[in-house]
Amino acid sequence: MTKNSFAGMGGHQGARPTTDVWLTPPAVLDAVGGAGSFDLDPCACEHRPWYTARRHFAVSDNGLLQAWFGRVWLNPPYQTTLIRQFMARMAEHGRGLALIFARTETEHFARHIWPVCDALLFLEGRLHFHRPDGTRSEKNAGAPSVLCAYGVDDADVLAGCGLPGAFVPLRLRAFLHGFATVGTWLQEVSSFMRRRGGTCHLSEIYKAFAGSEKAKRNPNYQAKIRQVLQSGPFDRVGRGLWEAAE
Ligand SMILES: C[S@@+](CC[C@H](N)C(=O)[O-])C[C@H]1O[C@@H](n2cnc3c(N)ncnc32)[C@H](O)[C@@H]1O
Repeated sequence: MTKNSFAGMGGHQGARPTTDVWLTPPAVLDAVGGAGSFDLDPCACEHRPWYTARRHFAVSDNGLLQAWFGRVWLNPPYQTTLIRQFMARMAEHGRGLALIFARTETEHFARHIWPVCDALLFLEGRLHFHRPDGTRSEKNAGAPSVLCAYGVDDADVLAGCGLPGAFVPLRLRAFLHGFATVGTWLQEVSSFMRRRGGTCHLSEIYKAFAGSEKAKRNPNYQAKIRQVLQSGPFDRVGRGLWEAAE
């Protein structure tokens, strides 16, 4: 991912893109489980250079007319009508991951992402997508991308996938509903680590606190959590991995 500023496929901002066939960078797919972990790509490249799921529907099948099943990988075509139709189907289906431009002002974001998804991962920088022959575009996408999780399992995948960006949980997990009273950061993080037990990834701790009362009062809550982990009774046992000290 890079932060180059020239316009690419997403830089049209309202103009018609020249092609729909921009393939997901393999590193992104690998980070969220790999092609073999998805049951279906309902809008796959017709003559794809690699798999994106175990089953594929291409234009000749018209993925919008087919029954969707299992964990879906969706990087929809870029025409507005098609994005809306594919995102509506994804929201209805409710299981899997979608990769789209982070255009939070659009109708499909308002209707099929914000109220439906369990979590989002706003990717840092801009992706370089690939052409149908597999070659990587030298131009970046021209706009930022976001991964959208439908279902708690895929929210967990996004939280731990390691792709650089901002993870935004949209649904509170059951254990957060128990936060009736609010202690100090040290008390709350210690209590979470005890309940959780074992080794815990930093992203999981962020996620646990993201919708909490304490985080609402502190926009820098992730830095606060890191500070508590570094100065409190916790051991760093790997990159981003923490345990309660013995
Ligand atoms: C942005 S590309 C993504 C390709 C692939 N899903 C990936 O992640 O690499 C969108 C793809 O949707 C395909 N497509 C467009 N309309 C479709 C339709 N009605 N049914 C199935 N595929 C379609 C295009 O041919 C194109 O390959």
